[in-house]
Amino acid sequence: MAFKEITAKELEENPFRMIADEWMLVTAGNEAKFNTMTASWGFLGEMWNKDVAVTVVRPQRYTYEFIEKEELFTLSFYGDRKDIHKTCGTKSGRDVDKVAEIGLTPVFSDGTVFFEEARIVLVCKKIFAQDIKEESFIDKDNLKWYPEKDFHRAYFGEILKVYVK
Ligand SMILES: Cc1cc2nc3c(=O)[nH]c(=O)nc-3n(C[C@H](O)[C@H](O)[C@H](O)COP(=O)(O)O)c2cc1C
Repeated sequence: MAFKEITAKELEENPFRMIADEWMLVTAGNEAKFNTMTASWGFLGEMWNKDVAVTVVRPQRYTYEFIEKEELFTLSFYGDRKDIHKTCGTKSGRDVDKVAEIGLTPVFSDGTVFFEEARIVLVCKKIFAQDIKEESFIDKDNLKWYPEKDFHRAYFGEILKVYVK
């Protein structure tokens, strides 16, 4: 594994660019079975005196089943490798082996999974999950993102490890 471990506070990156522009893979599972998908919404910050990453996953995603089941998940970042997201953001692991299709190299480490090709990896422990609810929207304009009413579930992950290349 060509990664170096740093602390979350040592990460010298702009989280807005990382999540909104670069995008990330949300991955959960184990050596027997895992799944990954692209996400471009989420947060990095502080909560309950912990370094936390939040990812939001719609219930119909195959990845949802894995995050629900597992104690850990990873968020990983791939620079300008948009080819990864073209596959992982449009195809479901229910239908195709996305990892084999792209040629990603799974790394089974810390009780979870990420990919050797990442430039940054956050290993997260699920500490809180909550469904986004229609009645909680103050700015109702944002309901436009849910024509199917498939509201995300927000997973708060305590950042246990940060790996960088
Ligand atoms: C740029 C981009 C960002 C996305 N962000 C999210 C997200 O934050 N949450 C989500 O549930 N789906 C998001 N998706 C959709 C999933 O990546 C997509 O539905 C994927 O095929 C799900 O794969 P799965 O069924 O194997 O989990 C995004 C897709 C793209 C292309």
